[in-house]
Amino acid sequence: MRIDLRLAGTDRACAILIGSNLLDECVTLLKQCVKGRRLAVVCDAAIAESHGGPLIILLTSAGFDCVLILIQATEANKTLETAARLYSEFLKSGLDRTSAVVAVGGGIVTDLAGFAAATFMRGITLISIPTTLLGMVDAAIGGKTGVNFPLPHSDSLGKNLVGAFHHPAVVLMDVNTLATLPPRAFRCGLAECIKHAIIADPELLDWLESHADSLDPGDSSDLVEFIARNVRIKTGVVARDEKESSQRLLLNLGHTFAHAIETREELGLEHGEAVALGLLAACAAGEHLKLTNLDLRPRLRGLMGQLGLPVRMKSAPPLSEIISAMKSDKKTRAGSIRLLIPIDAGVVEIVDSAPDSAVEAGMNAIVP
Ligand SMILES: NC(=O)c1ccc[n+]([C@@H]2O[C@H](COP(=O)([O-])OP(=O)(O)OC[C@H]3O[C@@H](n4cnc5c(N)ncnc54)[C@H](O)[C@@H]3O)[C@@H](O)[C@H]2O)c1
Repeated sequence: MRIDLRLAGTDRACAILIGSNLLDECVTLLKQCVKGRRLAVVCDAAIAESHGGPLIILLTSAGFDCVLILIQATEANKTLETAARLYSEFLKSGLDRTSAVVAVGGGIVTDLAGFAAATFMRGITLISIPTTLLGMVDAAIGGKTGVNFPLPHSDSLGKNLVGAFHHPAVVLMDVNTLATLPPRAFRCGLAECIKHAIIADPELLDWLESHADSLDPGDSSDLVEFIARNVRIKTGVVARDEKESSQRLLLNLGHTFAHAIETREELGLEHGEAVALGLLAACAAGEHLKLTNLDLRPRLRGLMGQLGLPVRMKSAPPLSEIISAMKSDKKTRAGSIRLLIPIDAGVVEIVDSAPDSAVEAGMNAIVP
């Protein structure tokens, strides 16, 4: 299945392929969109043997000159220092402006390698091969790339504070790669799918509720259409508002809370888990503001429980620190917190200058 993301008002486009056993197609597509022969394959170290190695063999036998660069996929490693290591490796391997970066991994690797591709020699071609559900339905599409950066006066990293918009020429989603994904990482991807359903597709929420017990990363039959449905939601929004001046903001639903809690090591949260909690907190903030339908939060909590996603944090971080992290978030304007509030399935509203009491109500809903 192929979905083309065409960016409004530009001649730029990104081809997204979703299916099984797509690696052979990868060679044909790379030959079409990479001018030179030199490629840097930036791959998650955890999947170097299972996915990176076979890809290198395939690309080398097709005539590409490849260097394999491995990345430990952790948030602590998604930094400017790691991006600088990538630039050095690119230079050592003789990459130039006709070369391309092939990112193979989850959102950490596609964000980081995408950022390196966006900035190396002012931008070279990027090909993304997401290997997590979250990477497929969200991180690898839409052109956002970036790294975390230390927050002032704090030991925490601010999420994705330094970055660039840089769309991959091709995104290749081979659902077979999901067969090796740990269940926890698969569940994290489902959190972003719940987000998509709340933003734009209430029937997807019904579908998730009725398929929660049967969704299986090892069974590709339902997955291709499920992923495609999510990709269409995201590309539909991005095509109309690439640089996030209006509609694309909605895709950050749950993320203002998520970004403030996910870099706190004591909570031990993955990004998708923080998003699940962030969605519940956003509902509670909306209830406090008398905007959100009171049925929505119990419904989402039930679905998250069914899917094995967390509905509470392990401990309660100090509210003042959460509020200050939110004020450093990219969506913040002039120091006031902007919250995206789910009103009901399919309806989301932007609340500029949300009061601290709404944040407190949101956090109270997810404390132990
Ligand atoms: N750019 C965007 O628009 C955007 C959107 C959403 C999220 N993100 C970013 O994405 C990141 C989260 O992405 P993620 O959830 O994919 O996390 P991730 O990249 O950390 O991957 C999750 C885990 O799965 C492992 N893994 C990856 N593919 C595998 C496979 N096929 N088999 C076995 N193990 C595999 C990884 O080593 C890691 O341990 C965050 O940094 C977040 O900020 C970016």
